[in-house]
Amino acid sequence: MSSDPSESIESVLNEERVFDPSPDVADEARISSLSQYKMMVDQAREDPEKFWGEAARKELHWFEPFNQVLDWSNPPFAKWFSGGKTNISFNCLDRQIQNGNGDKEAIIWEGEPGEIRRFTYKQLHQEVCRAANALKDLGLGKGDLVALYMPMVPEAAIAMLACARIGAPHSVVFGGFSSEALRDRLIDGEAKAVITADGGYRKDKVIELKSAVDLALANNACPSVKSVLVVQRTNESIDMQTGRDHWWHDLVPSQSDFCSAEHMDSEDRLFVLYTSGSTGKPKGVVHTTAGYNLWAHLTFQWIFDIRDDDIYWCTADVGWITGHSYIVYGPLSNGATSVMYEGVPRPSNPGAFWEVIEKHKVSIFYTAPTAIRAFMKNGRSLPDKYNMNSLRLLGTVGEPINPEAWMWYREVIGGNRCPVIDTWWQTETGGVMISPLPGATPTKPGSATFPLPGIEADVVNANGETVPTGEGGYLVIRKPWPGMMRTVHGNEKRFRESYWEYLRPTGGNLIYFAGDGARRDSDGYFWVMGRVDDVINVSGHRLGTMEIESALVSHPAVSEAAVVGRPDDLKGESVVAFVTLEGTSSASDHLINDLRNHVGNEIGAIAKPDEIRFSDALPKTRSGKIMRRILRSLAAGNDISGDTSTLEDRSVLDKLRN
Ligand code: WT7
Repeated sequence: MSSDPSESIESVLNEERVFDPSPDVADEARISSLSQYKMMVDQAREDPEKFWGEAARKELHWFEPFNQVLDWSNPPFAKWFSGGKTNISFNCLDRQIQNGNGDKEAIIWEGEPGEIRRFTYKQLHQEVCRAANALKDLGLGKGDLVALYMPMVPEAAIAMLACARIGAPHSVVFGGFSSEALRDRLIDGEAKAVITADGGYRKDKVIELKSAVDLALANNACPSVKSVLVVQRTNESIDMQTGRDHWWHDLVPSQSDFCSAEHMDSEDRLFVLYTSGSTGKPKGVVHTTAGYNLWAHLTFQWIFDIRDDDIYWCTADVGWITGHSYIVYGPLSNGATSVMYEGVPRPSNPGAFWEVIEKHKVSIFYTAPTAIRAFMKNGRSLPDKYNMNSLRLLGTVGEPINPEAWMWYREVIGGNRCPVIDTWWQTETGGVMISPLPGATPTKPGSATFPLPGIEADVVNANGETVPTGEGGYLVIRKPWPGMMRTVHGNEKRFRESYWEYLRPTGGNLIYFAGDGARRDSDGYFWVMGRVDDVINVSGHRLGTMEIESALVSHPAVSEAAVVGRPDDLKGESVVAFVTLEGTSSASDHLINDLRNHVGNEIGAIAKPDEIRFSDALPKTRSGKIMRRILRSLAAGNDISGDTSTLEDRSVLDKLRN
């Protein structure tokens, strides 16, 4: 392992608090005891195909039934529910209306400036059909990749569902990414169209989106992109290129409000979503129709034990997998009411989250540890001003949650009555993998507890052997599951190598390596320790150190760069860059600023280094590999522990210390 998780292990090893599900939560829950959970685990283990097959038949609508549950004849390339035909947009809309949910609210949206829009399932169905027909008018259809670069407006969810309806895979690019990052993704995915907005609101400022799309497409950089559909959100003036650019309000509202859902093969691509890895450019994670739908659907039902009268709110952005699975597809596929909020807590409204909970009587709240820690720092007086009695369940996702933040969340936000559901998963897994079940699992602050039924998670050494209780190791999944990613777009080799061949088990069975370190305690609880590869997690956002390094090196003043994560109380990790300069350049505050902006332009503001240190040289092995372990210690202000005998030039260390 490249990073040493032992320190964080120490801090949670002493965690002995256990919170049993309260009887009233358990009584009403679908999965209402640990023994019921264990029975499901056993059923899934004994006959996985029966378990998944029954779930798929029961939970999804099929235009045509599947004839095989899992085809694992060519691992790691899985085929789930072969022969079946379904459509996730149908499952999220038409089926809900058929089930009598037509007049139930599907989405309650609130914009940052405070406007509210509500869509019942019937209304959402109509909007999605109109948008789908508009996409068809633009010549788009089955198999054509459509990129979305959107603010958090209802049209983002509508566009995703419209793409799915006509069988056009979507590729949502987070609106905080730069035009460069957008361009890379448009080219890699060979996008045929982009759906965007003039801009969006973030922290009381207008964020321009359309101008970034224009930049990404300039000089015919993405020849595959033939049209751009633009939602009017901010009314800023933007350039519209005749023939290529169309206003949403010109094209969509006049369409027919009916569009039948394409009958999609189970394994047809549903979406591509890019995420950072430890090497090279971001990977296009590919998810397909039926398996992903089932996994988003089932996990949402299990972990939140969703009820008909719940008002559910996930604070993520649709640009991330959390937004895909737990703002749009999971909730709607279950006929739930999903709140979508454009804003974030900001100086003009620091209590924005609590206000949304109070106003919309949110009963299930799903957010990231980084947000909890930020509130915790400022004390309970702010949340105490709001009435949050409607809450019955709290979830967290994105990074390890420290026991203190977990306790604060439970006590201050949840009034000691709401179970805290810490959910571990990844873009690649499609949905939650390790998580408590509110009616069944006794929770421990800081632990994601147990794998969901059917998920064969383990903690292993480099040979794929289970490590003893209490010891740290690699977090792996031993068996395929329906929501697993199918491949890296355009790069099967990278898919195989980064996930399935990283560890070489002695028995020869392929196992999925997630990139995280973990340990299990004597009760079998999983404690996820964070990444053990060169990926860092800043406020729940995944960043590849190599990506930031190549951004830095593309600046004319930089000769070499090494980027590491440094533990950060608020953000989980922060970005520290060690930089050596080209001969004529010299270190200055001006240059630091310039380099930070450069990274912002190449990737996006979230990737800007928090600290840049200049140095004459970087510590390297004799074979020329940068020793990040040493840089991590230096960045954290720790002594350099461990072996330094492979270091080529030991004097570098003394220089770096200053
Ligand atoms: C990485 C995946 C899953 C949606 C959001 C992030 C870290 C995620 C937890 C958790 C500890 C967590 C892992 C994982 N992570 N949830 N509950 N406890 N770590 O998705 O961008 O694909 O990042 O986030 O390191 O590998 P992502």
